[in-house]
Amino acid sequence: MSRQKVILSKDFAKDLQEAINTQSYDKLFVLTDEQTHEFCQPSIQNILDELEAQSITIGSTDLNKNLDSLAKVWTELGANGASRQSLLINLGGGMITDLGGFAASTFKRGIKYINVPTTLLSMVDASVGGKTGINFNGLKNEVGVFNPASVVIIETDFLRTLNRQNLLSGYGEMIKHGLISNQKHWAELLQFDFENPEYDHLKQMVGVSVAVKEDIVEKDPFEQNIRKALNFGHTVGHAFESLSFIEDRPVLHGYAVAWGMVCELYMSAVNVGFPQDKLRQTVAYIKENYGSFPIDCKKYDQLYDLMKHDKKNVGGVINFTLLKDIGDIQINQTASKESIFEMFDFYRECMGL
Ligand code: GLY
Repeated sequence: MSRQKVILSKDFAKDLQEAINTQSYDKLFVLTDEQTHEFCQPSIQNILDELEAQSITIGSTDLNKNLDSLAKVWTELGANGASRQSLLINLGGGMITDLGGFAASTFKRGIKYINVPTTLLSMVDASVGGKTGINFNGLKNEVGVFNPASVVIIETDFLRTLNRQNLLSGYGEMIKHGLISNQKHWAELLQFDFENPEYDHLKQMVGVSVAVKEDIVEKDPFEQNIRKALNFGHTVGHAFESLSFIEDRPVLHGYAVAWGMVCELYMSAVNVGFPQDKLRQTVAYIKENYGSFPIDCKKYDQLYDLMKHDKKNVGGVINFTLLKDIGDIQINQTASKESIFEMFDFYRECMGL
């Protein structure tokens, strides 16, 4: 898989037009959800009109990242004359770039697609790296393929449309990129003040964050080894996220990852020697900005079972990515049930639960 072209846009209309023009295609389609159709598509409507693009819109939120929405996209592509030479633009958050990427990858055995992420989470994570798919049988991203977009265009002006919760959700993945890359980036991330967000500074850090992911994906596009670094915080984070849905107290993905990182940094300190001072600083920042996901010790078994069913595991053994230090990545780590329960004790203690 070659390095995906990621454009940090300075002039969105021009960059999008150029990205479309460099593809050879017969018909152009744009996929949005109800939200991005209303709030984001107008900013590119004149380009879409000029190129006679046809719109496909599906329901918003992760609940619509399913087979019915996928079938709707395939059906509308087919009904409107899409061929193997057609081009799809995915304009939205991770739900749209994942589902649209999968629809494009499978329609007539694959058409080209361009991602235009509109949330911070999709800018720094979902839209980059070629993971596509849908939820199935109650499991997140259960069906999908690795297939990168031809181009990803990041228009950071969309960030101004996001509320603080959605900014923080994406920022959770950025903190992860800081931890798995280098001290300088990690330190600047922990200084960002969400009470007075400086958008220009955030935009500059988005560029650094995306580059961290691009470098890793280029080395290991199919997650055989070092791409597992991107799973840091996710072994526990996915369990928190699943529990939040089971108990009908849903949390945003990046929040679950942030709390997962609190746990996995502790395990990193105990198992592979991650420095205590950096553990304390990261935990304090997460606690201050993300609050906590309340659990008591009666939830430990359920969280453990959820972790055992994670699709990253091999042979039912829970797989962790840990850090010996910032940027010093230790993949394929395991831990006993007892030490996982101790990790939950630490999480509750430092979160004041
Ligand atoms: N979201 C993790 C990855 O793209 O590998």
